Amino acid sequence: MRGGRMKRGSHDQLVQSGNPSALRRRTGGRLLTLGLLGLVTMFVLSACSPEDAKPYTTISPASPTADDVQSLYELVFWLALIVFIGVQLAIVYTALRFRRNKVGGKRPPQVHGNKRLEIIWTIIPAVVLLIILIPTITTIYDHAAEAEEGDLVIDVYGKQWWWEVHYGQDNEQGGENLGIITANEIHIPVGQEVVFNLRTNNVIHSFWVPRLSGKMDLMPGHTNSISVTAPEAGEYFGECAEFCGAQHAWMRFKVIAHPVDDFYAWVNAQRTGNPGIVSADGDVPEGVTAAPQAFSVCLACHTVNGVNRYVLTGEDALAQNGPDLTNLACRETIAAGMLLFNRENLEAWVNDPDAIKPGNYMADQITEGLIRDTYGDDGFNQLIDYLMGLQPAGGCVGTPGWTPAVASPVASPEATPVATPVT
Ligand code: CUA
Repeated sequence: MRGGRMKRGSHDQLVQSGNPSALRRRTGGRLLTLGLLGLVTMFVLSACSPEDAKPYTTISPASPTADDVQSLYELVFWLALIVFIGVQLAIVYTALRFRRNKVGGKRPPQVHGNKRLEIIWTIIPAVVLLIILIPTITTIYDHAAEAEEGDLVIDVYGKQWWWEVHYGQDNEQGGENLGIITANEIHIPVGQEVVFNLRTNNVIHSFWVPRLSGKMDLMPGHTNSISVTAPEAGEYFGECAEFCGAQHAWMRFKVIAHPVDDFYAWVNAQRTGNPGIVSADGDVPEGVTAAPQAFSVCLACHTVNGVNRYVLTGEDALAQNGPDLTNLACRETIAAGMLLFNRENLEAWVNDPDAIKPGNYMADQITEGLIRDTYGDDGFNQLIDYLMGLQPAGGCVGTPGWTPAVASPVASPEATPVATPVT
């Protein structure tokens, strides 16, 4: 306080002594500060350009739902700006109007307890809050997800730290359960409303695809739903938006919207599955690369359609330890968006998961070098070969050279999972 008084005192002395060069220096310093502030603001604003190059951007909505969320954001932004400018103007006006040499050193009139002012500054914020509240509530109710006829229903289970994705009832297919399990990369048909049922058995996560929808929490013991429509084909990035432990930042996912035919080709490819383990008598079906013995280590936690797939639902699904690996080679990333899917990264991940994503469940089971130590370099390389080859016969859907193996869009019931005995 003392310092503040000293400063004011010295300013008064400057004013009274009328020392113009000292005053100019002071004004120059203030202008410099203002200029720097302006520069910082420019840099901050330049980071906000709504480009597709920023896949997690919250300000370039790509669906009607995200548009609604954006409208709310804009409303709040402009109201906040008006309030900010209003308050700043009032401060500047008061400071100038009642500055000491203007009021002749007297205290300006005090307004404490002024009834009219109290009423005004109670009513203004109340009106501002009402203007925000009404559209917020109507938007929340408009977006409340309830599966209707024609919707595709997808169950998403939050794990630490990845997303398990179950394709349930598909009303386009007469309510048939598609029986597909996958992880982290969620394929959906363009333009169709998809209802996500969100569950978890560990901690709270939050499902968020900024360009398609708002956030929705995954709560233990409770199912929340959110509906998402992607009007255009493409990839939409998602992430967990609720702190959920050491690797929360690496709990990413992607929604990939396909034209309807491509989507059902993907469905069929998932349902056709991948080749299984070499059986005890060494039988390998013709044209099939069978899994090496080292893969049996993976099957303790992972499933592959055609090898050990069993469709789990509800509480059982919540207890799954590892992601389903059917058509793994078609995924773009490993470890929930952490690594690009390629041979080098896959080798590093399988060899020592803890070095890549410390604290993850697989790291408890697969300690550094375990597979090499148990199965040798050859066994390890065969395992990587096999994993790199987990893809449909016709190639991954949507990649160059891909040909749909089954006529779309019918998900053929013959293509349901086949269990192959694991040796
Ligand atoms: Cu899951 Cu953060």
